[in-house]
Amino acid sequence: MKIIACYSNKGGVGKTATSVNLAYALAQGGRRVLLCDLDPQGASGFYFRVKPSKKLTDTRFFEDVERFTKAIRGSDFDNLDILPANMTFRDFDIFLARMRNSRSRLKKALKAVKGDYDVILLDCPPNISTLSENVFRASDAIVVPVIPTTLSQRTFEQLKEFFREHDLPAKKLHGFFSMAQGVKSLHGDTMDEMRREHGKRLMKATIPFASEVERMGVHRAPVLASAPSSGASASYGALHDELVARVFGK
Ligand SMILES: Nc1ncnc2c1ncn2[C@@H]1O[C@H](COP(=O)(O)OP(=O)(O)O)[C@@H](O)[C@H]1O
Ligand SMILES: [Mg+2]
Repeated sequence: MKIIACYSNKGGVGKTATSVNLAYALAQGGRRVLLCDLDPQGASGFYFRVKPSKKLTDTRFFEDVERFTKAIRGSDFDNLDILPANMTFRDFDIFLARMRNSRSRLKKALKAVKGDYDVILLDCPPNISTLSENVFRASDAIVVPVIPTTLSQRTFEQLKEFFREHDLPAKKLHGFFSMAQGVKSLHGDTMDEMRREHGKRLMKATIPFASEVERMGVHRAPVLASAPSSGASASYGALHDELVARVFGK
């Protein structure tokens, strides 16, 4: 079983769009997938038409294995279950603050469902530092969408720096360019520069800026399901294949 987190400390970079499409692609590939919506805004649950579970203010949520597993919902698709967002941002912060040794708790909760899934995918909220470190330690791979602009370039460097400072293995990081616009020379230049600088830490697959992805909110389904022959779907397919090769070694 592998844990894959979709993470960036920036909002609006395509974490949820990526989580939703990767979860779908992995499930289509025959892997049993649990997508955990860790963002209290509940966007990935929304895309899969899964209602958020009742707000759980109980701070022992992740300790109580039974409650954790009971909150899991099926989706419209084979092999794909969803753990809807079930805490507000504040509750989550309090939850984390109260937990001593929270690192191993998250890992323990995820291990409880280990036998049931081949992949647990975490759709992360931006910018919760305590949660982030838990996620980095618990995950086998951290998929990082990077919009090819100067600011995102710095964000990716800061993330690598954080890994160095906290003795986390940089090879867990799998960045990729998100919402790339071929016509913008800044995007092209930034991509070239970042590829030189970060080498294998960036995947080859690139997700273009595409209106089909924006329309996911209308269809409430992954692009791979609603527009399977679109360019965006081909890109998510390529991202899936490359990530699978990196994480599962095939
Ligand atoms: N490749 C893309 N092309 C066009 N729009 C995109 C793309 N990826 C995401 N979006 C849109 O950008 C917004 C933010 O994306 P989202 O995945 O929710 O980001 P995050 O989870 O990082 O906050 C959403 O409205 C989404 O539909
Ligand atoms: Mg999101």
